[in-house]
Amino acid sequence: MISSVYDCVILPLNKIHNRDGNITIVEGQKNIPFDIKRIYYLYDIPGGEARGGHAHKELYQLIVAAGGSFDVLLDDGNNKKIVTLNRPDYGLLIVPGIWRELFEFSSGAISLVLASHKYDEEDYLRTYKEFNNFKIR
Ligand code: TYD
Repeated sequence: MISSVYDCVILPLNKIHNRDGNITIVEGQKNIPFDIKRIYYLYDIPGGEARGGHAHKELYQLIVAAGGSFDVLLDDGNNKKIVTLNRPDYGLLIVPGIWRELFEFSSGAISLVLASHKYDEEDYLRTYKEFNNFKIR
């Protein structure tokens, strides 16, 4: 699949704000372009650690900094870009076929991930070589 880092966009979500605090609602196919089949979140990430370091063949994801902040490196084999996530009411859409690395986690950061498919190890491109071969097929 031909995909580009420019397909990976920051989506502004909603925020209902009142004196008791804020709430943001995400509904599959409504404010993100896929049905949500799985949710997971990364937390208690030690300072200096990086996560990710893989790509997916089919999976779409929305990544939200539900707490704190972190950076996401996106790489489509031709172009790279780094996005900082630091607001719970914005999400980064990652389309299939994009190498990603998450790093620079602040203390207490929570990376909430909404995913279009259930967990499937077969969908992972775990090495950069596998990723490159997939891109040039
Ligand atoms: P991985 O996707 O490699 O983590 P990250 O991209 O955050 O560095 O997953 C880490 C481990 O967790 C790996 O052993 C697979 C397992 N895992 C599941 O079993 N189910 C899941 O939905 C996810 C995301 C990971």
